[in-house]
Amino acid sequence: MHFFTYKNNKFYAEAVSIEKIAKEVGTPCYIYSHKTLTRHYAAFDEAFKDVPHLICYSVKANSNIAVLNTFIKAGGGVDIVSGGELFRALKAGANPKKIVYSGVGKREDEIEYALKTGILMFNVESPEELRAINKIAGRLKKKANFAIRVNPNVDPKTHPYISTGLKKNKFGIETEQAIQEYVYAKNNLKNLIPIGVDCHIGSQLTQLSPFVDALRKTKEIILTLRSEGVEVKYLDMGGGLGITYENEDAPHPSKYGKAVIDATRGLDVTLIFEPGRVMVGNAGILVAKVLYTKQGTEKNFIIVDAAMNDLARPSLYGSYHAIKAVTKKSAKEIVADVVGPICESGDFFAKDRELPPFKSGDLMAIMSAGAYGFSMSSNYNSRPRAAEVMIKGNKFTIIRERESYKDLTKGEKIPKDRQ
Ligand code: LLP
Repeated sequence: MHFFTYKNNKFYAEAVSIEKIAKEVGTPCYIYSHKTLTRHYAAFDEAFKDVPHLICYSVKANSNIAVLNTFIKAGGGVDIVSGGELFRALKAGANPKKIVYSGVGKREDEIEYALKTGILMFNVESPEELRAINKIAGRLKKKANFAIRVNPNVDPKTHPYISTGLKKNKFGIETEQAIQEYVYAKNNLKNLIPIGVDCHIGSQLTQLSPFVDALRKTKEIILTLRSEGVEVKYLDMGGGLGITYENEDAPHPSKYGKAVIDATRGLDVTLIFEPGRVMVGNAGILVAKVLYTKQGTEKNFIIVDAAMNDLARPSLYGSYHAIKAVTKKSAKEIVADVVGPICESGDFFAKDRELPPFKSGDLMAIMSAGAYGFSMSSNYNSRPRAAEVMIKGNKFTIIRERESYKDLTKGEKIPKDRQ
């Protein structure tokens, strides 16, 4: 459910016309609906109202501090994967006690930063990382709370690039070894405090069964750990709940909630979630302007001013994003590719798609672009990154200015001997 709709054939974000924003801010630009963000948070929160839980929004999905602040104000914590994300989270007002830190390759300086911040816990992904955190905590005279991210070897039935819970994936520690590591840490790593078990099996899951399978395995691990005298207060389920981009039948958070609560009944833990996409995906659009159209003998092309550097998902995963005309057209649809200006054939937003007959100067909204859109954008082809705008009712705020040409060369230098 989102708040992007047509009113009298004009496309609106809440009560603001997209055309007006494009005129004032320029294109390409990302537009997020605040009401959609808060609604998504509330739906997720509501699904777990009967059990102790903490929603740690996954910063990587959309890391703009205004977006983070929206969830923080709603009571949420954050899931981070880098020092940079920790910096953003703190700038957005996150409570350190609601921050979990995931990721396979945490650097020493990042671990130190997190320890000094006093985060809730590290989600540890390897035995070496566990020892590194223990050592750094000792040097800082601190205790580090941790969970081990277990790799339950469950197939999440999603795109292979975003499957993470199989043995062949780089993530987490396999069950047997994870249990040994908890016991080892308890007996030998004195600067560590085990407080939870963590599991994240992948992203854009549209079925509940992989979550339930992973939970079943995680539950067994928790029971084994308790029998070994290891205290487990938190069960971090990661993120991964999918959304509808085209016609996927993604489960509503309430269904996901029911399945998770059923599978964890009697376990006496606080549940932690790290949702990303389900919070922001359908709360954002990317608005682009048509530069040219051209008719080949095999294809029609609609060339727009946004490109794969702005939204990489179609080129990276072949993902589908619906495309809408910002001013509705009554003329017959055409079949065309929507492409950007970048010098690669992989630079596309749609292929052989039935679309309104876009003409030069028309605006289009590329839907469901709130998650892994701007946060994965780059400056490829020396394209300044797009502006980001947040809508709240009938008001809009530029929450990130469009980059300038000057931003492009920030920090670059020509060595003296070459001058
Ligand atoms: N927790 C961990 C440890 C993760 O690695 C991720 C996502 C999440 C939570 C949030 O997952 P979500 O709820 O958003 O599914 N760029 C890809 C998605 C990569 C997901 C990476 N990890 C895409 O555009 O589809």
